Amino acid sequence: MRSTRSSDVLFQEILNWPADKPNVPPKMSQGWFSGLNQAILSPTLSDQTKMVIEVGSWMGKSTRWISDQAPNAIVIAIDTWLGAVELISDEQHRKFLPTLYETFLVNCWDYRTKIFPLRADSITGLRVCKKHGIQPDMIFVDGSHEYRSVLGDMLTILEEFPSSIITGDDYWNAGVRNAVHDALAQFDPKSYTFNSNKRAFCVRPQPTVIELDTSKKKKIAEEAKHDVDVAAEEEAGAIVTYPVPGPHRVSLEDRDTVTPIPLRGKHWA
Ligand SMILES: C[S@@+](CC[C@H](N)C(=O)[O-])C[C@H]1O[C@@H](n2cnc3c(N)ncnc32)[C@H](O)[C@@H]1O
Repeated sequence: MRSTRSSDVLFQEILNWPADKPNVPPKMSQGWFSGLNQAILSPTLSDQTKMVIEVGSWMGKSTRWISDQAPNAIVIAIDTWLGAVELISDEQHRKFLPTLYETFLVNCWDYRTKIFPLRADSITGLRVCKKHGIQPDMIFVDGSHEYRSVLGDMLTILEEFPSSIITGDDYWNAGVRNAVHDALAQFDPKSYTFNSNKRAFCVRPQPTVIELDTSKKKKIAEEAKHDVDVAAEEEAGAIVTYPVPGPHRVSLEDRDTVTPIPLRGKHWA
């Protein structure tokens, strides 16, 4: 874990396991995680992986698999453990909901030094991780499959964690697929790569350097209280650039959502 004082607070005070194992039967095989998911996620995980966030863990089948593939990683599992539209509406899955969280804890009990449940809605959970300095190598998205929710999950991740690999399940589902591409459409296609199979998808950040036009340079210089004389540099023909770690907005009009990178030296590069 890339630890900061803020992330220590997260692990000590928020991501607590109960002292005693809940008294519910394990259901180790319950879940949807399949070979097609594994094919997309495998290349993103190794013994070098330090931090993973999973959005949507259910009973922990995918969470445990991720932990097995990344044996030195912390896996933060974000879930309400309240179900999703299609699960609450389905009698077969609804019956699991009253003890869903306890079943997750029992199923993941042997992983409790490596897997940490964060019981929150997806966007709240992601924002809490961001606030506490968590920098995931990879984020697996498998929470809600409703278009608007997935759009929110994807935009939050792209904005808050631009250097993380994003993977996700249920790419066959039109709501998921449209939300993924509508979110990505807001970002410069040169700043990420995309691949998928029928089941899962993967977005990999591509660090790039962008050039800014004069007015935007001025705005960024002012906001960053940088003492660069943009006009003089322009006159001298200097190219002022701005490095970005991964997906960034196509239009910098929206740059409130781009994480500013501290300026170094005379230029941004
Ligand atoms: C399809 S299941 C996850 C399956 C799991 N990844 C697996 O492969 O075994 C979806 C999970 O997302 C959770 N969920 C749905 N909407 C959510 C939201 N907006 N925020 C957090 N969790 C959510 C549900 O409680 C459920 O446990």
